[in-house]
Amino acid sequence: MNRPIPSDLEFVADLGVQWLRRPVPTAPGLVALLAQDALNPEEQAAVVQAVGASVADACATHGYHSMDLVVLHPATPGLEAALQRFDQPHTHADDEVRYILEGEGIFGFLDAQGEERVVCVRAGDYLRVPAGVEHRFTLTAARRIKALRLFADTAGWAAHYTQRPVGPLAMKA
Ligand code: LAC
Ligand code: NI
Repeated sequence: MNRPIPSDLEFVADLGVQWLRRPVPTAPGLVALLAQDALNPEEQAAVVQAVGASVADACATHGYHSMDLVVLHPATPGLEAALQRFDQPHTHADDEVRYILEGEGIFGFLDAQGEERVVCVRAGDYLRVPAGVEHRFTLTAARRIKALRLFADTAGWAAHYTQRPVGPLAMKA
């Protein structure tokens, strides 16, 4: 899949979405963990520990004080049902921050008129979707991603579905 075209970047930036490159650390232990499909809780904590320092600036700037790892792969229980929720347009009351460490995903970002731009994210992409920005998400055919999530307040983390009618979420050919 190609990198986003400039007009998509501009559209996304105009919504206030911050999209940065943060090269994923290459410590051998981290590389080995990211190559696994599933990770047990200790392994997830080790990944968070290994990459947490590299997002300390974002935590300080935006007040994120908790983080976790989301791990999805083809054998994840309930994966397709989860994707059917993620791929409906929604907003959150807090920022959605995702640092992609492995695999890839597809975000759709919608403006107030309902125009949507679809972009692919992969390892090293860091996204901050400000509170209130309408978006949706799915995986690519590889059905695989590992991403660090940063939260200001996990208690408030919920999706508010906008009920906007949309077609399937996919990259244009
Ligand atoms: C979320 C992404 C999938 O809300 O938008 O977790
Ligand atoms: Ni979301």
